[in-house]
Amino acid sequence: MKLPIIAYGDPILRKKATAIEPDEYPNIKQLVEDMFETMYGARGVGLAAPQIGLSMRLFVIDATPFDDEEPELKDFKKAFINANILEEDGTEWAFNEGCLSIPDVREDVLRKPVIKISYYDENWKHHEETYKGMAARIIQHEYDHIEGKLFTDKLSPLRKRLIEKKLNDISKGVVDVDYKMKFPAAKKKR
Ligand code: NI
Repeated sequence: MKLPIIAYGDPILRKKATAIEPDEYPNIKQLVEDMFETMYGARGVGLAAPQIGLSMRLFVIDATPFDDEEPELKDFKKAFINANILEEDGTEWAFNEGCLSIPDVREDVLRKPVIKISYYDENWKHHEETYKGMAARIIQHEYDHIEGKLFTDKLSPLRKRLIEKKLNDISKGVVDVDYKMKFPAAKKKR
């Protein structure tokens, strides 16, 4: 089932999400499936639970669209539960990022190229893995979501000022988008 994506400006995107206990969420696999369906429907490569209105430490990633540049990303489709980034390493590199909660805004963001992360998959199997390149980049972006951060936070004061109106418009629903969204400041239709 496709779910509406929460737009920029909603306070849930600013909350640090809480860890999930296995028995607290027995239907986690269905939720993971719905999140993938929602993400594919919006042509994204990652989606975090706060973006569908759930403040929990869960995000999904499918980095396959980048497999022409990085062949090891073929079929890189994963769910990350209770993730913790343990280390970030290397010299920061820039990449033009976007976010399904912030349609039509793309900006260069600096991030470190290598991360070590601990997480559980949707079968509650624990993993501790190291990722680099685009995989690390997408994980860092989604991880920021469960920490209540957005990629626009990382921009220079000048870039922030230049996109301020656009961000305001997005929170009001004044944006062209072809997937279902929930806008926090949209005027109610009578
Ligand atoms: Ni995002």
